[in-house]
Amino acid sequence: MNLRAGRLGKKMSEDAAAFTSSLEFDEYIFEADVECNIAHTTMLGQEGIIDDSTAEKILIALKKLKEEGVDALDMDPSVEDIHMAVENYVTAQVGEEAGFMHTAKSRNDQVATDLRIVLKVKLEQIQSEILEFMEGITQLAEEHKETVMIGYTHLQHAQPTTFAHHLLAYAQSLKRDYERLKDAYKRVNINPLGSAAMTTTSFPINRNTTTDLLGFDSFMENSMDAVCARDFIGETVFALAMMCTSLSKICEEMVLWSTYEFGMIEISDEFSSTSSIMPQKKNPDVAEIARGKTAVLYGELMTILTILKALPYTYNRDLQEITPHLWNGVETARAMLNIVSAMLLTVQINKNRALQLAGANFATATDLADVIVREKNIPFRISHKIVGRMVTQAISQNLKPEDIDAAFMDKICKEVTGNNLALDENLIKKSLDPLENVKMRRVPGGPSPEMVDLALNNLKTYLKQEKEIN
Ligand code: ARG
Repeated sequence: MNLRAGRLGKKMSEDAAAFTSSLEFDEYIFEADVECNIAHTTMLGQEGIIDDSTAEKILIALKKLKEEGVDALDMDPSVEDIHMAVENYVTAQVGEEAGFMHTAKSRNDQVATDLRIVLKVKLEQIQSEILEFMEGITQLAEEHKETVMIGYTHLQHAQPTTFAHHLLAYAQSLKRDYERLKDAYKRVNINPLGSAAMTTTSFPINRNTTTDLLGFDSFMENSMDAVCARDFIGETVFALAMMCTSLSKICEEMVLWSTYEFGMIEISDEFSSTSSIMPQKKNPDVAEIARGKTAVLYGELMTILTILKALPYTYNRDLQEITPHLWNGVETARAMLNIVSAMLLTVQINKNRALQLAGANFATATDLADVIVREKNIPFRISHKIVGRMVTQAISQNLKPEDIDAAFMDKICKEVTGNNLALDENLIKKSLDPLENVKMRRVPGGPSPEMVDLALNNLKTYLKQEKEIN
């Protein structure tokens, strides 16, 4: 069916047709578009808006198209978009009667509906893949409850923790990413169909029927809003951009920790490359590419928001420009999620090196200060000063944490307070031991193995519950 036959005389120029066509990325919504037409035609027949026999013929053609797939369509740019390509196919099968399919429906409500149908499926996939990743993380964490490592603030040695505790930090960040997507899903799952061009229709359509047939939660309550709302895309891509940020931070640490200087992990060969000139090289290319691709998500988000900004109500063709950025964002984010997941879950952890770093550089100093507060009833600010002074002097005298004894502490304390500290030698040694440090942090959210167990159990319960819902 040539849409232009009525109002327009000349054909669109070839360049203009190619410039405005959405066919290239409409393949994404092909199946959804057929489903949308099936639901709409079924409803038109049921409500007596079109003859049962006409509806039946159209439905047979649509089901045939569903089986044949998108290749059965004429996708020449002059066709404009997938909606016209589908309509042309049905017309070729049924004849002019096919034109009844388009009663009370516009491409404006149709494209909005199709996008939501496809996005729902994509979101379901990504959500379940995040849960799988989180489950993998819990299993890896199980093995590393006593694998001590150094934690950083300002990327300087801060305090000892464990790999399990660090992995659970990743899991919590991913849990929020999951929940943001789950929340966005609620607003994707609303049906615009029935809004037609912008003010619904004078035909007595039944929006509940199409909403049920297409598996939406409810229908959009304002037809003007329904045809032009794309905030569901903006928030989805934001949620994905945030998820990529979580993944990128993981990648950054994997790059850093796998360096010779850190030497805390080894990334599996499957996710590494070498150099074309330096034969010794093992490079973390997957982590780097993933870190780089995060920018793609930010770019898509900005592009989407910028297209939306200042558009007058209701449908504007500009909206079509959003679509490829949505799909690119979705595909990039999904690929990143799966590759980073596989890379992290196959990492080798160098326990000896991690322990060595955790015990070095006075990263256990906070605990020594805490012991002084507890044992000697000295205010934390003073014990902080004593320990700080001790570290400065130890470094200048080239002493290691294991060289610190009661006599050295007395000397420092006397300088700071005028009195000896008289702290038990064993307590000093214990407080400077990184594993002891970790074990003493028995506060919810902390790294002691009991608390990590608790956190692991909570997370496992959460994962089980979410998997059952999905
Ligand atoms: N290809 C269009 C899009 O993606 C479909 C809707 C076209 N509507 C119109 N009035 N030309 O937005």
